[in-house]
Amino acid sequence: MVSEEARLPLDSKSIKGLRTGIIGNIVNFHGVVGSTNELAKEIALSGGEEGTVVVSNKQTKGVGRSGLKWESSEGGLYLSVVLRPNVGREELSTLPLIYSLAISKAISTTYLIETSVKWPNDVLVDGKKVAGVLTQTSGKGDKVDYVIIGIGINVNNPVNKLSHDIRRKSISLSEAAGSDLDRGELLRNLLAFMDLHYHGFLQGAGPQLLEEWSDRCETIGRNVRIEMIDDTIRGSALGIDETGAIMVKQGLDMIRITSDDCVHLR
Ligand code: BTN
Repeated sequence: MVSEEARLPLDSKSIKGLRTGIIGNIVNFHGVVGSTNELAKEIALSGGEEGTVVVSNKQTKGVGRSGLKWESSEGGLYLSVVLRPNVGREELSTLPLIYSLAISKAISTTYLIETSVKWPNDVLVDGKKVAGVLTQTSGKGDKVDYVIIGIGINVNNPVNKLSHDIRRKSISLSEAAGSDLDRGELLRNLLAFMDLHYHGFLQGAGPQLLEEWSDRCETIGRNVRIEMIDDTIRGSALGIDETGAIMVKQGLDMIRITSDDCVHLR
């Protein structure tokens, strides 16, 4: 049965009762925007508070990793968060993994759907992509001015409306559950896990969070192909290091890869 909540647009009622320390203290809801990441950047540039969240029911210019489009029709969950961590730029490399872990936990907690993560920051259900994270950073030299964490989750948006190439690798949570789902509950749980993980990150619990991430990871132990701008690496993914980089054994060489497109081979 399709619940009524599933059909309602998200608004401030959706997160009633949410109690977080940083993330979600201010949440701006929109019907349609170009990209929530762009809106969050404007907020950050005009001095907006750390933890401000922008949520939209639909995006017309959603952006994915590697400059790709993120198709964002109604029914999905699209949000961006402004962060201002007082750390050097290099220390940010684990944030996308820590947030994909937050998404994975929020989905499992809310809908009891089993999820896994794929390096560097995809969330999978049945081996297909259900969510992704886009991290954009601004600052001078090593100093971080702001970080935008953008998250897109296929919830009730039908995957058969996605373009052909993306469709075969994607799944929506409603497909996995067999009915449309309440996005408000997912948003509340997601913001709560994101806040918890952000506090953990700031207080030095990054290594534990990466361990949890590794436990849910489908990439580790697999043969992978990683396509980089000027090279393609094929080998066995052995694990990640403390920066979130993946270690791949190619022949006799051990290669450390910081971030790129990773294809799981059978
Ligand atoms: C990926 O390619 O896996 C990352 C996708 C991130 C998409 C989200 S949707 C909300 C936010 N706004 C954007 O334009 N992109 C991110």
